[in-house]
Amino acid sequence: MENAPVFRARGLVKRYSMGDAVVDALRGVDLEVGAGEVVAVAGPSGSGKSTLLHLLGTLDEPDAGSLEVAGTAVAAMDERARTLFRRLRLGFVFQTFNLLPVLSAEENVELPLWLAGVGGRERRARAREALAEVGLGGRVGHRPDQLSGGERQRVAIARALVHRPLAVLADEPTGNLDSETAVAVMDLLTALNRSSGTAFVVCTHDPALIARAPRRVFLRDGRVVADERGAAA
Ligand SMILES: Nc1ncnc2c1ncn2[C@@H]1O[C@H](COP(=O)(O)OP(=O)(O)OP(=O)(O)O)[C@@H](O)[C@H]1O
Ligand SMILES: [Mg+2]
Repeated sequence: MENAPVFRARGLVKRYSMGDAVVDALRGVDLEVGAGEVVAVAGPSGSGKSTLLHLLGTLDEPDAGSLEVAGTAVAAMDERARTLFRRLRLGFVFQTFNLLPVLSAEENVELPLWLAGVGGRERRARAREALAEVGLGGRVGHRPDQLSGGERQRVAIARALVHRPLAVLADEPTGNLDSETAVAVMDLLTALNRSSGTAFVVCTHDPALIARAPRRVFLRDGRVVADERGAAA
């Protein structure tokens, strides 16, 4: 099934109920993401970007519709299979970096490999290689509080890629960075995409990032209202 799209979503519906209040966060989203594609998911606050990312990442389940990841129906996997799939085949990057504060950059990047059962020596070598790829070869021993915001986000990106996932899902990865650093991080993601072949789905508000993405999917009120490819107009 290696030729199957990384994600194939059909009619995804997600509804949140809180007491009497019901929010239709996704109202039937179709989306296909091919191997190695880079897709920016844009849209106003509350349009469903994070909800979509959580469903694609198998972190949450849709109320209706179907999702296949690399040709496998997510609904047919049990919780254990989903957890393993997430750990081994996906990478995540969040706005707040989500690095463990007591661990060094290298130890943070080793975590996905540790979860995948990779041995200590190989873990260290691959973590160092991933950190060198994001330009942090000189910071392997630094803890997150000893790094700048852009450096922390690059550690998070190295961690998301170290186990060579099929896809990296990023939610506002540059939301806490100044605009120059944000553009540098997006350019880094694009370069890593070329070298690794990993697909990237990036939710963002940032017009500079949206303009740099080769494909742009716009959400509004839980629906896809535009899907553009090629250079931004
Ligand atoms: N856990 C939840 N419980 C209840 N409602 C939720 C929950 N998560 C999201 N929502 C609602 O679903 C809608 C879509 O939220 P979502 O977080 O996907 O939007 P978003 O496009 O990521 O917005 P932002 O740009 O502000 O991050 C919003 O109206 C939100 O209030
Ligand atoms: Mg969001």
